[in-house]
Amino acid sequence: MLKGDDVFKKIIGHAKEYGFIFQSSEIYDGLSAVYDYGQNGSALKNNIKDYWWKSMVQFHENIVGIDSAIFMHPTVWKASGHVDAFNDPLIDNKDSKKRYRADVLIEDHVAKLEEKINKEVQKAAKRFGESFDEKMFRETNPRVVANREKIDGIMKRFVSSLEAEDLKDVKALIEELEIACPVSGSKNWTDVRQFNLMFSTQMGSLSEDTNQIFLRPETAQGIFVNYLNVQKTGRMKIPFGIAQIGKAFRNEIVARQFIFRMREFEQMEMQFFVRPGEEKQWYEYWKENRMKWHKSLGMPDDVYRFHDHDKLAHYANAAADIEFEFPFGFKELEGIHSRTDFDLGAHQKFSGKKLQYFDPETNESYVPYVVETSIGLDRMFLAILSHAYNEETLDDGSQRVVMNLPPMLAPYKVAVLPLMKKDGLAEKAREVMDNLKYDFMCAYEEKDAIGRRYRRQDAIGTPYCITIDHQTLEDNTVTIRERDTMQQERIHKDEVKRVVMERTGYKR
Ligand code: GAP
Repeated sequence: MLKGDDVFKKIIGHAKEYGFIFQSSEIYDGLSAVYDYGQNGSALKNNIKDYWWKSMVQFHENIVGIDSAIFMHPTVWKASGHVDAFNDPLIDNKDSKKRYRADVLIEDHVAKLEEKINKEVQKAAKRFGESFDEKMFRETNPRVVANREKIDGIMKRFVSSLEAEDLKDVKALIEELEIACPVSGSKNWTDVRQFNLMFSTQMGSLSEDTNQIFLRPETAQGIFVNYLNVQKTGRMKIPFGIAQIGKAFRNEIVARQFIFRMREFEQMEMQFFVRPGEEKQWYEYWKENRMKWHKSLGMPDDVYRFHDHDKLAHYANAAADIEFEFPFGFKELEGIHSRTDFDLGAHQKFSGKKLQYFDPETNESYVPYVVETSIGLDRMFLAILSHAYNEETLDDGSQRVVMNLPPMLAPYKVAVLPLMKKDGLAEKAREVMDNLKYDFMCAYEEKDAIGRRYRRQDAIGTPYCITIDHQTLEDNTVTIRERDTMQQERIHKDEVKRVVMERTGYKR
């Protein structure tokens, strides 16, 4: 994968130029941190959704899917803790007037110390060669040990100040670490303040004093409030899961990095209801299962890593992120959270309705515990897009930009290209297209030289191009060109469907 700020800018430019992503309301100069998906972007996004949905719902007999409303009763957000605790600690730099999340400033500082440690380890590994014992080095090298102790000290203090809501100490820590504003370079900071991330609006039909409702900041609560409906009507037996894909909204103050952090985004979440006491084992199961899902997309193993949380959200007793190496570094892609019985327990209390499960195996009733998997669809899109983007110099010295998208996710599976319009080639190509279009998204192009048409398909990631030439008229064979290798083979036109299906379908 190509890395760096320049590459990231190119990816953003490419995403616009080829109809993947546009700035929202662009003709009015855009709306910050809100984006629209274009013709190729929405196709890729739908394919990611479909793969996730099939992997979670269709391939698991004990997981079902729902689609709950974005608007929910306002008490839902009181019960879930979002009204009181869904806050970001923010700090402003007085010189640049830029606003930052205090936790991100501290985490970035810690990441720099981690980087120093890693450089030290890499240098030593080079110096000692095969005899290098990394574990021993990390435990004994004075510089590494000192930096590790610094990191542990910072994280411990930071977590305890946040937990104690001691925002003065968070500011003191930023000052002691001499963290400077990346824009102005100054250390002239305001106090740290908490800022609630939920968007609110008014609903006319509710009475005056309770007419404020929220745009959901996570899809999970729609699952929790429907837990009993689904369990009873689906006759679900614990352990079982409920999955959902849908929009979520957060008034992100520091909205950065294209579609990485948006104000309106989509989540793919699954709540897995388990027996109390069995949550840790299911938490480990889902961590592994979700990592496997990511790796099934064919990106290299080293672009993923786990990050176990030190500071837990108000609802969790264990949490980890699956991080992905974006062009701007490793960042959170998906969260796996052991949410205990916090949510169902809170909804039971606030609604006055019993949300229990009678377990026929143990003859007991209990509020189930929940393990959640939660992935941002847009972030997954960005991970795939940024890994797929490649610039190549070909043997003849020419350049091509190719999107090496996983074939099963590509917007178009196949492009049908008559070598030329005349001599009946276009009619023959239409015949081939008509035979494929009910099974795959197919592109059809007859304008421009064939080489340029190949490049256009490479740039949107179409895995196969079928070319119809004069030989096709004689013997009904076509060429099939593979995007990544650019190799071509000749096959019978009636074979195209089977070959494309085999090479672009889901792998078992
Ligand atoms: N229900 C749990 C939950 O919402 P989260 O860690 O806040 O947990 C889950 O969010 C995932 O949603 C993240 O891992 C990320 O992929 C995605 N996500 C969160 N905020 C986002 C934002 N502002 N823009 C895009 N994706 C976001």
